[in-house]
Amino acid sequence: MTGTEDDYLHEAEIYDVLWADLNSFDLPFLLTQAKEFGGPLLEIGCGTGRVLLPCMAHVDRAVGVDRSPSMLAQGRVNLSESGVPEERVGLVEGDLRDFDLGERFNVVLAGGQTMFHLETDEDWLAALATIRRHMLPGARFVAGVPVFQEADFTNYHNRQLFVDEIRHPRTGRRIALWDYSTFDFEKQSITRRRVSEILDEQGLVLERRHDIRRNIYRFPPEIRALLEQAGFRIEHEYGDYERTPYAPESEDFVWVATASE
Ligand SMILES: C[S@@+](CC[C@H](N)C(=O)[O-])C[C@H]1O[C@@H](n2cnc3c(N)ncnc32)[C@H](O)[C@@H]1O
Repeated sequence: MTGTEDDYLHEAEIYDVLWADLNSFDLPFLLTQAKEFGGPLLEIGCGTGRVLLPCMAHVDRAVGVDRSPSMLAQGRVNLSESGVPEERVGLVEGDLRDFDLGERFNVVLAGGQTMFHLETDEDWLAALATIRRHMLPGARFVAGVPVFQEADFTNYHNRQLFVDEIRHPRTGRRIALWDYSTFDFEKQSITRRRVSEILDEQGLVLERRHDIRRNIYRFPPEIRALLEQAGFRIEHEYGDYERTPYAPESEDFVWVATASE
C-alpha cells in the first residue's frame, strides 16, 4: 500500500467520470453475478459504489467496505442520488484484510482491480480469510484483475501517457491527466505517477499535482495458489468479462470461487 492515509483523496470526486468506460467493461458481468447469486451482496473495495449501486437492481441488501473515507463519501453522495433507499445499503469504512460486519453474504464482489492493492501473500491470505468468514454456505466470491502481457510492459513501462481530459463534476474545471508508470519486474509492482493539471479555458495550467500509487500485480498461477491456500475452490475462470475461457494470452483473469468444505 502507499504510505498515505487516503490514497484516493484526490481521485474520489472525479473517479466516476474518469473511469466511466469501466461501466461497459466489467459491470454487465458483475450485474449478472449479482442477479444469479442474489443478495445479500458484499463488495470489498467498493469505492464510490460504481458497481455496488447498480447491483441494487438485483439484490435487496448490500454492504460495501472500503478504507478510503473520500471514496466512501462520494459513494454516499451517489447513493443519495441513486434513488435506492439508504437503509438497503451499508457503506462501511474498513480494511479488507480485517473487518467484521457481523453478517454473511451470498455473493462477494471485488470490482475494479481492488485485489491488486494487496501487497504481500499475507495481505492476500488475510483478505481471503476475511472474505470467507463473510460468506454464507454456497456463496460465491467473484473478482477479476488484468493479466499483464509482454506488450503491456513495453507499451507502459517508463512512458508518460496522456490519460484523458475531463471536467470536474462539481467545479466544472478542466482537468488533464497524465500517467507515468514504471514496472519493477522482480517485485511485480507497478508504480504510477498520476499528474493532474487544472487548466483554464485557454489551456493554461493553473495547478498541477502529482500522486503516486503502487500496485502489486499477480499472475493467474499465483492467484490460483492463494485462493486454494485460503480454502477456495475456483468454479469458473474467464479470460475477460464476456466469459471467454481463460487462456495464457488473455488480458484479464476473472474468477468465480466458492469456499471449499
Ligand atoms: C480501483 S478502486 C475500485 C472501486 C470499485 N470497486 C470500482 O470497481 O469502481 C479500488 C478501491 O479499493 C479500495 N482499497 C484498496 N485497498 C483496500 C484495503 N486494504 N481495504 C479496503 N479498501 C481498499 C480503495 O480505497 C479503492 O476505493
